[in-house]
Amino acid sequence: MTASASPETGSQRLRLAHFSDIHVNLNHYGWSLPDLFSKRVAGWANLRLGGRAWRFRHGEQILRAFANDLSTTNPDHMVFSGDAGCLGTPGEFDLATQRLGSWLNHPGVAVPGNHDHLIQRDVKARNFETRFAPWLVGTRPTENTDYPFVQQVGGWSIIAVNSSAPTRFPWDARGRVGTQQLERLKLLFDSLDDRPRLMVTHYPALLKDGNPEWRSRRLIDLDPLMRLVEEGKIRAWLHGHRHGAYHLPPAPGRPFALVCAGSVTQTRRWSYGAYDLTPTVFRGERRRYNPDTDAFETGERFEMPLV
Ligand SMILES: [Fe+2]
Ligand SMILES: [Fe+2]
Repeated sequence: MTASASPETGSQRLRLAHFSDIHVNLNHYGWSLPDLFSKRVAGWANLRLGGRAWRFRHGEQILRAFANDLSTTNPDHMVFSGDAGCLGTPGEFDLATQRLGSWLNHPGVAVPGNHDHLIQRDVKARNFETRFAPWLVGTRPTENTDYPFVQQVGGWSIIAVNSSAPTRFPWDARGRVGTQQLERLKLLFDSLDDRPRLMVTHYPALLKDGNPEWRSRRLIDLDPLMRLVEEGKIRAWLHGHRHGAYHLPPAPGRPFALVCAGSVTQTRRWSYGAYDLTPTVFRGERRRYNPDTDAFETGERFEMPLV
């Protein structure tokens, strides 16, 4: 663990651009024999027959408008909460990072989504981690592990946790942090100084109505993670996975805010979050894409106390 022991003396104001679920996809995928017996087949069927490709048909032009809009919102730090692709192939990650262009060189943090960590073989090959390497730079509690990690930015600690693990059956869309990562997360929390803390995952803790995710889509280890997050003094938990954006202020028994970016590229959902944080206040703005102007513009604004 090499994190500095004392907080930075700079401002604790932090301006973030939080985007998620871009779901780039390819016209043609190369298939190996093992692919034909993997979850990639179900992913392809969902893409081509289930309507996913249609829902994301404007992705390229929206990401172009998104990159332009970032020059206006001027974030200190980018937050990408996963689902770069649909089938989790290297070609999708190459396309996703190509479309982000020079913004991938802007300071940022990224975690994989369930579509990025779809198949164990690709997870082992670290296809996502290699392409998004600039946003996976950070301090880790143990060597030779990718997650969790922490970045210290503008007087804040931003903690990235991988909640996406391959599952066996096509209908199983559950996420998992895993016992070992939970243990490393505890080590990480114990090592941090008293800077305010944010956490980023792909999977949500709660839905827009405050209830847990459906059982077939829920984080398997949500309960121990929630307890750890509370003990770890997280003030805000940013995530994706759900393609409609929402936020939940801290509530009794849950002393942290939850913010879902929604999908930046899904037709008619197309939004991302521009946030201004202080240690005690979370101010958010939804930047929504307008197809008439081919540009993002101000949408909903919200403000939450942080504790
Ligand atoms: Fe998604
Ligand atoms: Fe997802």
